[in-house]
Parts: sequence; structure tokens; C-alpha cells
Amino acid sequence: MSGFAAVNSAVVFAPAKINLFLAVTGRRTDGFHDLVSVVAPLAWGDTLWIDSGERRAESGEIEPNAAAEAVTGGGITLECDEACVPGDETNLIVKAARLFREATGWREPVHFRLEKRIPLGAGLGGGSSDGTAALRGLDLLAGHPLAPAALAELAARVGSDCALFLHGAPVVMRGRGERVAALPAAAAARLRGRRVLVFKPDFGIGTPWAYQRLAAEAPAGYVPAAEAEARLAAWLADPSAPAEQLLGNNLERPAFAKFIALPALLGELRNRFALAPQLSGSGSACFAFLPDNAPVPEIAAAIRAAWGEAAFVLPTAIS
Ligand code: C5P
Repeated sequence: MSGFAAVNSAVVFAPAKINLFLAVTGRRTDGFHDLVSVVAPLAWGDTLWIDSGERRAESGEIEPNAAAEAVTGGGITLECDEACVPGDETNLIVKAARLFREATGWREPVHFRLEKRIPLGAGLGGGSSDGTAALRGLDLLAGHPLAPAALAELAARVGSDCALFLHGAPVVMRGRGERVAALPAAAAARLRGRRVLVFKPDFGIGTPWAYQRLAAEAPAGYVPAAEAEARLAAWLADPSAPAEQLLGNNLERPAFAKFIALPALLGELRNRFALAPQLSGSGSACFAFLPDNAPVPEIAAAIRAAWGEAAFVLPTAIS
């Protein structure tokens, strides 16, 4: 490889995800949890611009995030339109860049600019998707030094939910999230293009908190692995089974016990609009498939009436 990158800038789409099916099956010795989950990317998300830092520095455009600069020891800068996105190494873009440098030895200065749309603490995978977008962009700028398997391994080290975003299609996630397999094409086709409404109250839920609460009730809250696999296998085997039949998330148990505004509204949406709403990941975002004739403005009004005007409501689709 020459010392020159073939390209010196990239724009990478970082989609949000929803967990259509999430069965946390038990605690591992490393403190994480094993799970079986069907996860789908949405046609909506953040946008990450990556520039060769030298080029940006020459043009005098950079307003680096000082925290990111300090943490990474220079050469990696990050700016974001949302002040609440952390600029230190808890930001998965910064972590991804650091791990990519270690793994490849590629050390060109890089500047990231993140246009943040995915809310934080939502269970929509925003931070994880940003981290994977950073890896994909860096891999491109560096001339693809990593084989796909090495990129997937690196993504798993950035965060439990990162590897799934390399697929750009609905996947099954196992282990702590690092074992990712594409859904069979026929099953993916049952999900792709389905319209969904994503909605979130004006508060987030911390993923570690949700898992800890589930663990505190163990084994009551866990779904046995064999049961989770059997449910998934039954859905995969039945080509007439709609996406709705796959729904399930046992992280709802701890989240709903504490944040009662969630089950209260979901119950109302079931009764008034015949929707099948569910928490995504550890929340606090929820989603529901939208039938063709769904009265979206009325549903949105019901959500805002229950959760306040600051509630986030977005019609989108599985991509
Ligand atoms: O890997 P990630 O940073 O996304 O995980 C956040 C936290 O969520 C972990 O520190 C852990 O507490 C919990 N977690 C878990 N099992 C998983 C994924 C996450 O216990 N499979």
C-alpha cells in the first residue's frame, strides 16, 4: 500500500435500527448477556462526513472538538451538530477511529463531522451505527486494508451492536451481539419496505441499567435460549407469517416496570388503533408497523397527548 489514500473524503449513512425480536437469554461470565435478536436497519439515520484531516486543516475549515482531540492524542477530530453527543472516547466514532488505527497502522489525520438525527438513549443503535459508519469510512479512505471478517471483528470490539450495521439488511444477532448472520432472503423480504412509526418519550433509558434490572430478577426475566431459537425458527419456516408474528422483547419487563408511561401509551395504541407497538432494544424508543391505511397524524397526536409535545415521532420504513 502506498502512503497515499485513493480518496480523501467520504460521506457515510449511519442508519438507525429496531429490534423486531429480542430475547435476552442469560448472563455471561464476562458480565454481558447472551441474546438472540432480529434487527432491521431503517431508511433513516445519521450522516457522517469523514475528511482527510490534512486537507481540512489546509482549508482552515476545522473547528475540532477539543475533548476528542485530547483523548485521541491528536489527528482525530470530531464535530457534531448536537451538543449532547459526547466528544470523548465514550463516543463510538472516536473509539472506532482509535481501534482502526491500532489494527491497521494507518495514521492519516481524520476529521469527522456528524449530523445527528437518531436520539440518544433510545435503543435505536445510533451511537453504534455511527461507530460502524466511521469504520466503513476509514476503511475506504485507507484503501480497504481490512478483510470483511477483520472489519466485523473490529466492529464487535467497538460495541455489542456495531457489527450488525455492516450488513445493511435485516440480520439475526447472537452471542452478546457480535455474531451476526444475514436473514434468509425470503425472510428479509417479509421485512424490507415495511412502514414503521418510531416514537420516543423525552427521556432515554441507559442500556446498562436495563440489563442490570433484568439480571437482578434472574432467572425470571430471561427467555431460555432454546425457546428463543424455536420461536425464530418457526417464524423463518413459515413464509406466510407476517413480521408482526416475530415481535417480542424481554427488556420491556424492566423498562415498563419503571417507566410506566411506556406501557400506558402502548396499551392505548393497541386499543385505539389496533397497532402492535413494542420497545426497541433497551428503549426508550418504541415502534409499530403501520398498515397502509394507518391514520398517522391521529396516532402522532395520541402519542403527543400522552408523552407531551417533546415526544419524538417519525414515520419511516425498514430498509
Ligand atoms: O456493548 P455496549 O456498549 O453496547 O453495551 C452497553 C452495556 O449494555 C454493557 O456494558 C452491558 O452492561 C449491557 N449489555 C449486556 N449484554 C449485551 C449488550 C449490552 O449486558 N449483549
